[in-house]
Amino acid sequence: MNPRLGVLISGRGSNLQALIDATADGRLDATIAIVISNRADAAGLQRARAAGIEALALPHGGYATRDDYDRALVKELQARGVSLVCLAGFMRLVGAPLIDAFPNRILNIHPSLLPAFPGRDAQQQAIEHGVKVSGVTVHLVTTELDGGPIIIQRAVPVMPGDTAETLAARILEEEHRVYPEAVRLIVNGGWRVDGRRFVADARSQISAST
Ligand code: GRF
Repeated sequence: MNPRLGVLISGRGSNLQALIDATADGRLDATIAIVISNRADAAGLQRARAAGIEALALPHGGYATRDDYDRALVKELQARGVSLVCLAGFMRLVGAPLIDAFPNRILNIHPSLLPAFPGRDAQQQAIEHGVKVSGVTVHLVTTELDGGPIIIQRAVPVMPGDTAETLAARILEEEHRVYPEAVRLIVNGGWRVDGRRFVADARSQISAST
């Protein structure tokens, strides 16, 4: 099967690295065809190049509208035969041109148990709210910010004395485990979207947890 992935980033790229590692060591049977960043200085672009993956800086500043930028992304992704798009710290709202080109084929990872704490600074929001458990969510991307069908969630405890930074570091460890698992689940098939619910059949749930 070996689908071709496009990964969109804006910065550090540690989740990108987790996906690179998973494709390299056989946990994820897929090829990362291209990494695109809307910021030219994103460290993740170097991670891609170091792994021999095409890395493209596509700054959004040169586009008159968000839709124009999304159309440019679609063009680059389709030119590489990408069938699945992974957002990994991509700090842009994704609009209809991209979503329509890849229906139910765009994933995002978010550092909270959605629908709690969508948007920016999810870990700071969790600290300020005083929750005792937060976590990570991988979901399908729709036009609703951080609101698409949930593929996998994992809980991460909030410890007394945690700051947004210490909590973020603990959540990030779980992110790196769960993102490759979620991509593998999507790639393997055996799932459907029912309303706002992502429903995996029993077989794919088992294969995602082994
Ligand atoms: C992660 O916490 C991810 O959940 C969020 O942005 C951060 C990206 O980190 N969407 P990295 O660039 O993957 O290191």
